[in-house]
Amino acid sequence: MKLPLSSRLLACCGFVRPGDVVADIGCDHGYLGIHLLKQGIAKAVIAADVNEQPLQSAVRNAMRYGVKNKMSFYLSDGVRNIPRDFSVMVCAGMGADTMIQILEAAPWLRDERYRLILQCQSRRPELRRWLYDHGFRICRETLAQDGKFIYPIMEIIFSPAEPLTPGGWHISPALLASGSPLLPDFLRRVKGGIQTTVEGLRHSGSDKLPEFEAILAELTEMEGTIHAHRS
Ligand SMILES: C[S@@+](CC[C@H](N)C(=O)[O-])C[C@H]1O[C@@H](n2cnc3c(N)ncnc32)[C@H](O)[C@@H]1O
Repeated sequence: MKLPLSSRLLACCGFVRPGDVVADIGCDHGYLGIHLLKQGIAKAVIAADVNEQPLQSAVRNAMRYGVKNKMSFYLSDGVRNIPRDFSVMVCAGMGADTMIQILEAAPWLRDERYRLILQCQSRRPELRRWLYDHGFRICRETLAQDGKFIYPIMEIIFSPAEPLTPGGWHISPALLASGSPLLPDFLRRVKGGIQTTVEGLRHSGSDKLPEFEAILAELTEMEGTIHAHRS
């Protein structure tokens, strides 16, 4: 029976190392953990969800795919109720506000023993900024495409670093260095969004205009760098 795993979740799995104990927070159907166990990549999976229904569907799927003995299930808001003996936390398919709440509530995650794999659905610049303000750093970032959507996926460690530039909140240096074939298209989309914001701010005469013009200039420079590497 083939697992219906999206390219987005497959890309998250790409950051998991053989032998990792994985905490999948907001596991829903549980497919990410099931895939990692079926492929013999993860040693064990902690599957957690704040809602009972998705958690029960993860339990059923784990049984269906024959990996229930290596999965444990927790009804938990973020990492509140789960054991702490994992090596990687995956948080996928949630917005920045939820992810920040989860991380705020667990200062014990600010420890170099944990790697975090974050696939954020909304307000990604705010999340990247929060991470750097709290001693985290993006060590790798890649892109995955499902249908018309392109998703960034970040691997994070607790290792204080220089803050990102405002342009870096939108396209991180790690993503720029990723060599992802989706990067030119993704950068064009991000830049298009900033361009629209700049036009709106020009019309309204907002004092936010210089900040967004600077971001636009940075993104334009990044575009030049990518094109120079490709030609
Ligand atoms: C859109 S689904 C994403 C499922 C899966 N991770 C994926 O990326 O396909 C979001 C899941 O996160 C769960 N969730 C939302 N907030 C949460 C929180 N604070 N702690 C744990 N789970 C949460 C929801 O119940 C839901 O099952």
